[in-house]
Amino acid sequence: MIEIDGKTRLLGLMGYPIEHTYSPQMHNYISKIYNQNYAYSAFCVKPENLADAFFGLSALGFAGVNVTAPHKTAVMQYIDHIDETARLYGSVNTVKFENGKTYGYNTDADGFYLSLLNAGIEIIGKDVLILGAGGAARPVCVKFALLGAKSITLMNRTQKNADELAAFVEKNCGYKIHTKRVHDRYDVVINTTSVGMAPNTDACPLSDFSFVDENTAAADMIYNPAETLFLKKMKRNGVTTFTNGLGMLIYQGLVAYEIFTGIKIDYKIYDDIKREVFGL
Ligand code: ATR
Repeated sequence: MIEIDGKTRLLGLMGYPIEHTYSPQMHNYISKIYNQNYAYSAFCVKPENLADAFFGLSALGFAGVNVTAPHKTAVMQYIDHIDETARLYGSVNTVKFENGKTYGYNTDADGFYLSLLNAGIEIIGKDVLILGAGGAARPVCVKFALLGAKSITLMNRTQKNADELAAFVEKNCGYKIHTKRVHDRYDVVINTTSVGMAPNTDACPLSDFSFVDENTAAADMIYNPAETLFLKKMKRNGVTTFTNGLGMLIYQGLVAYEIFTGIKIDYKIYDDIKREVFGL
């Protein structure tokens, strides 16, 4: 248990619902390891209370707050300064309160990329297929375009949403995304949809695996279940390099913690968090 005293700086997470979150355990574990006097809690904030909650945390002198669904885009209107990439991502998941001002960032895409690298999956110079064109796909597409993926193909149930996201990335990043499959094989296939998430574990966002071989890598942003039907099918098609969404969850938190506190974290703590917080 962390010791709370008169100098403890407060951090938290706003979402709705929120009960499932591991963020308090994760951030408080990092504070304990780094001997930092911060305490992190979770707040269940209904959409109609977002403004009151946000300005309330600011008034109380919180050091920072993470923001999750459904507030990631709505919160942007209340923030004084939004980081340029977060603006491109269209959402904010980390807000720092400093000297009466608020600063918004989004650590999701950096966290996801770090989790891919940790799993041995590179994006730079690769042909990447992304499934889904919703709120989770946009930061990934922008990040991969800026990183320099060799090509990005976006496949989505609703073609119009894929076309709109591709047009956005082309306009803002000068990078052309394909919205129809253009290659016979892909280096990396990523699921950004919620298809296959518990309790709907028998659903899969992909039916055609003909462009997958043993050198293809797979990533699913879902972490519950740990192995989605998508990952199972990718493995059945020869894939040996893969990761689920747990890495993204942990790394986005590590990057957020650095923003909140200004201290540099040794990312080797990843394995300790997996073990101590998630029991894995
Ligand atoms: P958001 O992330 O913007 O809130 P979402 O409803 O969670 O949106 O959907 C995220 C992505 O998952 C979208 O690409 C969505 O496809 P559509 O653009 O066609 O809505 C995709 N998705 C959600 N449910 C799906 C399903 N049952 N089958 C296929 N794709 C699905």
